[in-house]
Amino acid sequence: MLNLKSYLTCLQNRINSMKIYKKILIGLIYLPISTILSASYISAGELNSEELVKLKALYERPKYIPFPKENPFSLEKVELGKTLFFDPRMSDSGTQSCATCHNPSFSWGDGMGLGTGNGHNKLGRKSPSILNLAWDHDSEAYMWDGRKESLEDQALGPIQADVEMNMNIDRLVAFLKTTKDYKPLFEDAFPDDANPIKASSIAKSIATYERTIVSNIAPFDKWIMGDELAISSSAKKGFELYNGKANCAACHSGWRFSDASFHDIGLKSEDIGRGAFVPVASMKFAFKTVGLRNIDLRAPYMHDGSIETLAEVIDHYDSGFIQRESLSSEIKKLNLTQNEKRDLLSFLKTITSKDTPVRLPVLPK
Ligand code: HEC
Ligand code: HEC
Repeated sequence: MLNLKSYLTCLQNRINSMKIYKKILIGLIYLPISTILSASYISAGELNSEELVKLKALYERPKYIPFPKENPFSLEKVELGKTLFFDPRMSDSGTQSCATCHNPSFSWGDGMGLGTGNGHNKLGRKSPSILNLAWDHDSEAYMWDGRKESLEDQALGPIQADVEMNMNIDRLVAFLKTTKDYKPLFEDAFPDDANPIKASSIAKSIATYERTIVSNIAPFDKWIMGDELAISSSAKKGFELYNGKANCAACHSGWRFSDASFHDIGLKSEDIGRGAFVPVASMKFAFKTVGLRNIDLRAPYMHDGSIETLAEVIDHYDSGFIQRESLSSEIKKLNLTQNEKRDLLSFLKTITSKDTPVRLPVLPK
């Protein structure tokens, strides 16, 4: 079993180090977590009930979405950002919107191994889910290799990238200016701006919309809130393994199941990831720790889409990784039994929520 005390301290430090920006409540998304967990509820496992209560507290959902003070929340920005996000006319070919690759039907990924870009060309990496990214604002590291500092900074990238939407920004702004129904959307979203249709407004509104993309309450959250019947006893054992012998929580920590950091987990891919920007030995082959919310809905897995199923992901961590200098010290042979693998898998399936279906916008004429 893990050294729980040092582990809890380490996780708590990580949580404390997150600055909270101006908070706006999006009422429909969070339920207040008021339930006090009663020790008598807790089923027998390796941890005693007090340890389990502390561990569960680390996974409580936050009550607010953090919005940065330099781009505060407004419903008007969300509406504009959503419209742009789903508009394929933002691409040179007129066929690719952000949602082509970040599709709500695939939990905001594209359900493919590697992404497919402009002219049906394969991209070098998998299209990641964009769920729950508002909370990455403090780590200032977006993309698989962390090369973008904010969602605002990120949004204009794929529009202009020749391999993705291949659109010239001036041409896009001209298109938006001449599409008359876009005008009131920009004016409402940026009421203090005499000339609101411009690149920075596109970036700000898309980023604001993206911050509202949050996974809903999953069976796991109901268990955390005190409903003992919400998940199976196999999943409860899996949760202890996740935090103990299987060591997943060393990196996939907190309610999003991510430490927002970068690690080499020993995949065979030649892509050096974060190493291209941070040239230290441990960052070679390191990629962003993906949050695991709704993980069951977005196979195949990893930056190169190389692992097909969650059971195979578990086999990878158990013994399938390759040894090299940059391999994270948290990755070691696990020797999980078949039953333990099954329990871990049951747990992973409890962190998928049924999210409210997304209504597609009618595009401005
Ligand atoms: C052709 C497919 C494609 C399109 C279109 C596309 N993306 Fe992406 N997106 C990707 C891929 C692939 C990555 C990962 C690239 C990398 O890390 O090198 C990515 C990464 C991201 C990330 C970083 C996620 C994270 O976890 O840090 C965000 C945010 C994002 N895209 C938003 C958008 C927005 C907004 C648009 C539209 C303006 C868009 N994308 C258009 C494929 C696409
Ligand atoms: C050393 C840190 C670390 C540990 C320990 C770790 N992971 Fe990961 N995990 C990562 C990183 C980093 C990625 C992204 C790797 C990549 O794509 O190159 C990842 C990716 C994943 C993915 C794929 C996500 C996606 O959307 O493609 C799953 C699933 C996953 N991990 C589950 C687990 C489980 C289960 C455990 C425990 C058995 C575990 N991880 C242990 C860091 C870690």
